[in-house]
Amino acid sequence: MKLKVFIIAVAIVFVSCGSDAKKGNETSKPNEEKVEVNDVVVSDDSMQDIGIGPIESMTLSEIDEAMAAEGEVVFKAKCSACHKLSKRFVGPGLAGVTERRSPEWIMNMILNPEEMVEKNPTAKKLLAEYLAPMANQNLTETEARQILEYFRTKKAK
Ligand code: HEC
Repeated sequence: MKLKVFIIAVAIVFVSCGSDAKKGNETSKPNEEKVEVNDVVVSDDSMQDIGIGPIESMTLSEIDEAMAAEGEVVFKAKCSACHKLSKRFVGPGLAGVTERRSPEWIMNMILNPEEMVEKNPTAKKLLAEYLAPMANQNLTETEARQILEYFRTKKAK
């Protein structure tokens, strides 16, 4: 019985030394850090950044005024507690947001804000600046799309 415990203890020491050595090797590879640096660089061109979430690709055509009008109703009900169009409030002013962010990024920020502020470099920066996190209002994809259309009618002045 005692021998068994001893053998197990030796095995644990052996295994943990082994994995430490491995860890040492991995962190000494210069590659790992580069990935993060690259992530930040990619997101610098914010119109190319699609963010993280259910929306991977969108093609926009002419502005659909009826859809935008529906978006305005949803925006007033679900977003205006924190957002104004022309100025900073709890969150950023959103007039002109379609000129600084891709449509996919905006949709993902509306539908998946928790993961966005955790992993997307641009959203992380916003969280650091505004301190309050963007709320998930549990919109459907259709409602988010209507709000995006509304934003398209509100350019920055
Ligand atoms: C509880 C407050 C709150 C609510 C409600 C809220 N937001 Fe936000 N929103 C924020 C904050 C704060 C930020 C800045 C990012 C952060 O801190 O996470 C933000 C960021 C954003 C951004 C990115 C802006 C930029 O400059 O890139 C968009 C787009 C956005 N919100 C849209 C919406 C929409 C659409 C709704 C309604 C469905 C909504 N938000 C509801 C607080 C809120």
